[in-house]
Amino acid sequence: MNAPATIQRDFAADFPGLRTADGKPWHYLDTAATAQKPRAVIDAMARAMGEDYATVHRGVYARSAEMTLAFEEARRKVAGFIGGRESELVFTRGATEAINLVAQTWGRANLKAGDRILLSQLEHHSNIVPWQMIAAVTGAVIDVCPLTSDHRIDLDAAESMLTEAHKLVAFGHVSNVLGSVLDAPRAAAMAHTVGAKLLLDGCQSAPHMPVDVTALDCDFYVFSAHKLYGPTGIGALWAKAGILDAMPPWEGGGAMIDRVTFERTTYAPAPQRFEAGTPAIIEAIAFGAAVDYVSAIGLDRMHAAETALVARLRGELGAMNDVTLFGPADSAGIVSFAIDDIHPHDLGTILDEANVAIRAGHHCAQPLMDYLGVPATARASFGVYSTEADIDALLAGIARTRKIFGRG
Ligand SMILES: Cc1ncc(COP(=O)(O)O)c(C=O)c1O
Repeated sequence: MNAPATIQRDFAADFPGLRTADGKPWHYLDTAATAQKPRAVIDAMARAMGEDYATVHRGVYARSAEMTLAFEEARRKVAGFIGGRESELVFTRGATEAINLVAQTWGRANLKAGDRILLSQLEHHSNIVPWQMIAAVTGAVIDVCPLTSDHRIDLDAAESMLTEAHKLVAFGHVSNVLGSVLDAPRAAAMAHTVGAKLLLDGCQSAPHMPVDVTALDCDFYVFSAHKLYGPTGIGALWAKAGILDAMPPWEGGGAMIDRVTFERTTYAPAPQRFEAGTPAIIEAIAFGAAVDYVSAIGLDRMHAAETALVARLRGELGAMNDVTLFGPADSAGIVSFAIDDIHPHDLGTILDEANVAIRAGHHCAQPLMDYLGVPATARASFGVYSTEADIDALLAGIARTRKIFGRG
């Protein structure tokens, strides 16, 4: 990528959440958990909830027709953001619900006893548990692809593991702990060679790099708005049109039907078939505003800037002889580490006193912690607003923590 490594913009003005209650800078290094929200998103939400508010799809009055247009425009934006079409994009509560939807509809219709699902060692619980649940119902079996020594999904191993019995490969596009980026086109080609579908968990890729589902050649792609500077309570499932059209509905109720009688119900076409009930109207519109915000900056520029921060932080931490770094050097916006004899929770608590927010824990990836042989890691994750000053504050906080622990 040739994009410049810094973005000239007043992010402190854009993001009201980046200050403490007493007006000091807050060094927010937990964007992988959830991103702070720009004014543009907050304002879009307030407008949608205030002067523009009405229901969608049903109203016969002008405000509702306008709201329906805004809601469907948001779908178009979100789909376009990942190179898809609006007819292929289902709004869900988030990535977790999107994966559960695929498991419970596509999985129920396509998996049978003896079929196999390939996951990887680094998956978030959201990309493990839904498959365990559907495997228990269908008799399908789960295989786990190991990692390379630099903590990427080992696609050579995946290639040798895949068989005609595999119906699905479900991999994280970017690990939420390690930041490792999957070679998704290769994973897709391997899955398709044995007739399996590829689901990409895009929670950590959509906010950090340009994504084009056509170039990736995945069959399903899921992500959450709140990690992409949008609101909580909404996310998206994108699926190839032919696959989505053939999937049976999941939840039943209003808005997902064509015609209901007590004898028989027929269903609306996709994507409405998968959106039962009044949708998250306000959140969808704000999701569209978030996509507008990051698109105006450019994901390639964001990726370049975050990559430069990762390189600096990994360089600084790597030079400390009591620090273990996890993940590959080209991690996408995420640096996980451990300091000898200092528990990540202690580190996180002491850093908080200096207005530095990191994540400490298993990051909803307990099988990965088992693999790494640690109960938890400390994780610093970057967003569009992250700066060198955030790294300085983190490093100062680490030095202070060492002192408190009597370590130099
Ligand atoms: C890689 C990954 N997958 C799935 C999820 C679940 O996302 P959500 O809780 O927004 O549904 C997360 C969130 O932490 C994640 O980082």
